[in-house]
Amino acid sequence: MALAQINPTITGAWEKLTQHHAQISNTSLKEMFANDSQRAEKFHIQWQDFLVDYSKNILNQETINLLLDLAKEVKLEEAISQYFGGDAINQTENRAVLHTALRSPENQVVLVDGENVMPEVFAVKNKIKAFSNEVISGQRKGFTGKPFTDVVNIGIGGSDLGPAMVVEALQFYKNHLNVHFVSNVDGDQVNEIIKKLNPETTLFVIASKTFTTQETLSNAETIRAWFLQSASQEDVAKHFVAVSTNIQKVTEFGINPDNIFPMWDWVGGRFSLWSAVGLSISLAVGFEHFDALLAGAHEMDNHFKTESFDKNIPVILALLTIWYNNFFGAESEALIPYTQYLQKLAPYLQQGIMESNGKSVGRDGKPVNYQTGTIIWGEPGTNSQHAFFQLIHQGTKLIPTDFIGFVKPLYGNEDHHNKLMSNFFAQTEALLNGKTESQVRAEFEQQNITGDKAEYLLPFKVFTGNKPTNTILIDKLTPKSLGSLIALYEHKIFVQGVIWNIFSYDQWGVELGKQLANSILDEIHSGTVKNHDNSTEFLLKHFLKNK
Ligand code: F6P
Repeated sequence: MALAQINPTITGAWEKLTQHHAQISNTSLKEMFANDSQRAEKFHIQWQDFLVDYSKNILNQETINLLLDLAKEVKLEEAISQYFGGDAINQTENRAVLHTALRSPENQVVLVDGENVMPEVFAVKNKIKAFSNEVISGQRKGFTGKPFTDVVNIGIGGSDLGPAMVVEALQFYKNHLNVHFVSNVDGDQVNEIIKKLNPETTLFVIASKTFTTQETLSNAETIRAWFLQSASQEDVAKHFVAVSTNIQKVTEFGINPDNIFPMWDWVGGRFSLWSAVGLSISLAVGFEHFDALLAGAHEMDNHFKTESFDKNIPVILALLTIWYNNFFGAESEALIPYTQYLQKLAPYLQQGIMESNGKSVGRDGKPVNYQTGTIIWGEPGTNSQHAFFQLIHQGTKLIPTDFIGFVKPLYGNEDHHNKLMSNFFAQTEALLNGKTESQVRAEFEQQNITGDKAEYLLPFKVFTGNKPTNTILIDKLTPKSLGSLIALYEHKIFVQGVIWNIFSYDQWGVELGKQLANSILDEIHSGTVKNHDNSTEFLLKHFLKNK
């Protein structure tokens, strides 16, 4: 069954939220905390080792009630059962959206077109396990009989960002294999990677759901040609494996059928790290850790599926995004993990969030008359504090920010971790309270700054505060907690798409540029510039003349 088509702006809750926004905007967050000493106790969710404190948001109980009414009016509950039940909710591609099946237990039945997909899912998982164990243990060898030392994942978008993010995040749990990622069609990237490799001891994983992606096929061909300078065609079978739904194209490329790890069209590229696209994760950290990542995601799936909406982390966080995006006019959201391990989380979620919800046509096929997908950006703290935090604190834009931190560090370095976390807590406190004129004056007095100088400096030193933040505090960065964290954001994307009445699982917006690039490539090859706008023609001619 298709998802309901409900324009959120015509719901009763939306109208009430509009009125409520006008009222609540007169009260500052600071006042809200001053008036309620139990605010954090009210507005937090504790789930397993996740503590999600959303009390530093511009809201009161009425806001939450109205947002929950909105979720009800757009039939979120029904949508969740359609999502997990395998309905073709990716309607424009007529596909189910079942990355959740990839982390379900074997005995669960997940039907796609009336067929239980779990036996197939587990057959591939077992293949990943056996293959990873053989490579890691050194039992599987390269063409000269040496064990593998390096793995190169060749893929882009969902076939790169997820594995690259997780391998980086789980560095602490890594084995001896060096894992590299080649994604860009920029030949300089592939050459920089090749420089570090020995063909005798390198395994190549070509990850492409469609196996038609220009970047991935070009990189795979370049790497194969480089490999064949030292090895024979027969040796390709030992060194190249592929992850794809397109078995025919993979076979045409010359990959041994035994070396193909299948995936399915009901797994979207940007949600595919749980499938065989995660092979490079399993190779980097071992299958047990990969499986723990999946288990963590599955537990978040259960939380999302079964918890009442008022205690449901993805639902609450999604509703807060709607609140700021649609009622406060906030255009972007920042994501700041206080661990260097999660430095690729924001780029990963940029695809997840913006490719999913960057849509302007509603599920009824008509242009939407309200804002949808937010712009996502971020970098780890404390680095980001020394880069763009100035704008969050004192700029003109409202940037709701998620702070993600861990109670325990991985190497047990208390001194560093206490410093890191003191920044983590300090930033959300500063964003909430700001600094008033009288506080600045008091500081000036202590520093003996007086007279004209004090009056001049005063406005620059004031912080308005009232900047909303969520704090996600997790016990420790483990494969399991990382799995839960990623799944949290995946479900948040889903909830937002349901409310905005858009299709979150297609990505037609990436096609036009690809088509034009293909015809421009023909022109570059032939040296003849065809009909373009004046600017494109001007630039192409310059390029052809000077290359
Ligand atoms: O950017 C468009 C896109 O289709 C993404 O959705 C996908 O993750 C990426 O290209 C790579 O696609 P494939 O895995 O088919 O090579």
